[in-house]
This record gives sequence, C-alpha cells and structure tokens, in this order.
Amino acid sequence: MIPAIVFISGLISTSQSLDNGLALTPPMGWLSWLRFGCTIDCEKQPTECISESLIKRTADVMASEGYLEAGYQYVTIDDCWLEKKRGPDGLKFGIYEDYGNYTCAGYPGVLGHEAVDVATFAEWEVDYVKLDGCGAPDPDEG
Ligand SMILES: *[C@@H]1O[C@H](CO)[C@@H](O)[C@H](O)[C@H]1NC(C)=O
Repeated sequence: MIPAIVFISGLISTSQSLDNGLALTPPMGWLSWLRFGCTIDCEKQPTECISESLIKRTADVMASEGYLEAGYQYVTIDDCWLEKKRGPDGLKFGIYEDYGNYTCAGYPGVLGHEAVDVATFAEWEVDYVKLDGCGAPDPDEG
C-alpha cells in the first residue's frame, strides 16, 4: 500500500506574509494520521501500522516519485507513535556514531555532518556517545 501524500498548509494568508524570504511556500509533506490514524497493531496490519517500515516506505516513495523535487519535504509521524507509559527514571541514554563516512557496519557516519548530529543528540538529551573510528581520516582525531 502506497501512503497517500497530503498537503499541509498554514493558516497565514499570503496578503499578510512578511517579505523576509522565509516560508515562501506553505509547509508541504505527509502526515501519518490522515491515512493511517492510530493503527498500531503491526501483527494484524503489518503494512498499515505506524512503524519504522511505514515511515521509511513513505520517505522512499516521496523521493522516488518526485514529491521531494516538487517541494514536499516533511514526513510527519503523527499521534500513536509513543508508548503508553514513560520508561523508568534513573537510566541514562547512550548512542553510537562513527567518525568516518560510514560506521563499521556500513551505515552513514558523522563526517561532514558533525554539527547537525551533535545538535540532534543534544536535543535528544543523549548522555553518552560511543564514537567509533571505522573509516576515520585520523582515528586519533575522532
Ligand atoms: C568522506 O567522504 C568525502 C565526500 O565524499 C570525501 O571527500 C572524503 O575523502 C571521505 N573521507 C574518508 C575518510 O573516507
């Protein structure tokens, strides 16, 4: 099933917009809610449930079928992605990254994306980063 692409538009009328070069087009993209709602039973509905697979398939369709080029740039995971209860307090959160173009297992590394990755980890309140050295230009530098 190919997810429907929806149009997201703001409520700001063009006659009231600022001439500051920002938001020249309305935010355009896909929202999981309008097609998949709160479908979370991945055993009964494996291709219809809110899941990593659904989001990746949607992103692939948006890229391969020209939506990205047409200005659709948001993939928005709507309600029902959360757990019903928060996790236990007291645990800290660690994450892996590699100071190369690729991780040891071949996933994208941090080189060239250091600032955005650091900002993302800070936003996620990551407590510990394991920085690997596969593919690093100078393993001591990382
Ligand atoms: C990482 O990729 C960039 C861009 O392709 C390249 O210029 C650079 O040499 C690569 N670095 C390493 C360590 O492979």
